[in-house]
Amino acid sequence: MKRDILSILDLSKEELDVVLSSASELKRLRKDGKFPDLLNKKTLGMIFEKASTRTRVSFEVGMFELGGHALFLNPQDMQLDRGEEIRDTARVLSRFLSAVMIRAYKHSTIVEMAKYTTIPVINGLSDLEHPCQIIDDIQTMKEHFGSVKNLNVAWVGDGNNVCNSLILSSALTGYNVNVASPKGYLPPEGIIEMAESAGAKFTFCNNPKEAVSDADVIYTDTWVSMGSEEEEKDRLCDFMGYTVNNELLKDASSRAIVMHCLPAHRGDEITDSVMEGSQSVIWDQAENRLHAQKALLVMLLGDVYDASGV
Ligand code: CP
Ligand code: NVA
Repeated sequence: MKRDILSILDLSKEELDVVLSSASELKRLRKDGKFPDLLNKKTLGMIFEKASTRTRVSFEVGMFELGGHALFLNPQDMQLDRGEEIRDTARVLSRFLSAVMIRAYKHSTIVEMAKYTTIPVINGLSDLEHPCQIIDDIQTMKEHFGSVKNLNVAWVGDGNNVCNSLILSSALTGYNVNVASPKGYLPPEGIIEMAESAGAKFTFCNNPKEAVSDADVIYTDTWVSMGSEEEEKDRLCDFMGYTVNNELLKDASSRAIVMHCLPAHRGDEITDSVMEGSQSVIWDQAENRLHAQKALLVMLLGDVYDASGV
């Protein structure tokens, strides 16, 4: 049966553990210049309704390094832009490709793609979730702390797609997610209900200092996600006081690490000096997109993974 990864909760705890250990093994092999051909002749179609640097490059490089091939599909250059329906596109792509990765404005577009394909569909970011980002983030936290269970992860900023997946992921990892967002910017009710029924561990407040006070990880993201550009002026006002800066870090442990999924808006949600500072793991986090997604692709498409003799 084909598997789709539309939400971080589409992975079980056991599968997440397999993906994380495979990601760290693939990272180690790559550092030694070894590239196992685990996806020989496999193909990934990548549909991007919105811009991307990390997701596009890491999936494309990942497929190449595993012996497969990725195709960048701009909806504006496809018949989708001239009205061909998702369900028709989905069926046709299923006859050519091994899997589809799709970044869309509406989560429902990705759900529809998954419904009509017979191949795995991966959510490369929607208005609701960013599961690939979160697998990478868990890998990054694990590298830093050894175990992620019971860590305190403070989210400072918008209750957006990345925040939603982070909250949901606590049901798999056992860390606590403490979200500090201005009024009106908490995650949507549907995500909160899903998180509660999955056993996620999370709290909400409107005070960044409170959220970071016992944090092991301080995580932020843009205040203006793709698709919210029209609200930019209001958002920049509403998020005043939510910048992750050196002053905020003084309220946290000096052992806390700072994460950002990128792209960053220096001076808004995070300052230059925090991004460049000693607590930032942002560049390692960016690199791990590659390893985590290779591992996910291998889980979905590969033969049984066996690194012995590679
Ligand atoms: N973090 C992330 O998904 O980056 P891109 O938008 O560049 O893909
Ligand atoms: N929340 C951001 C994440 C970008 C990777 C957005 O949706 O634009």
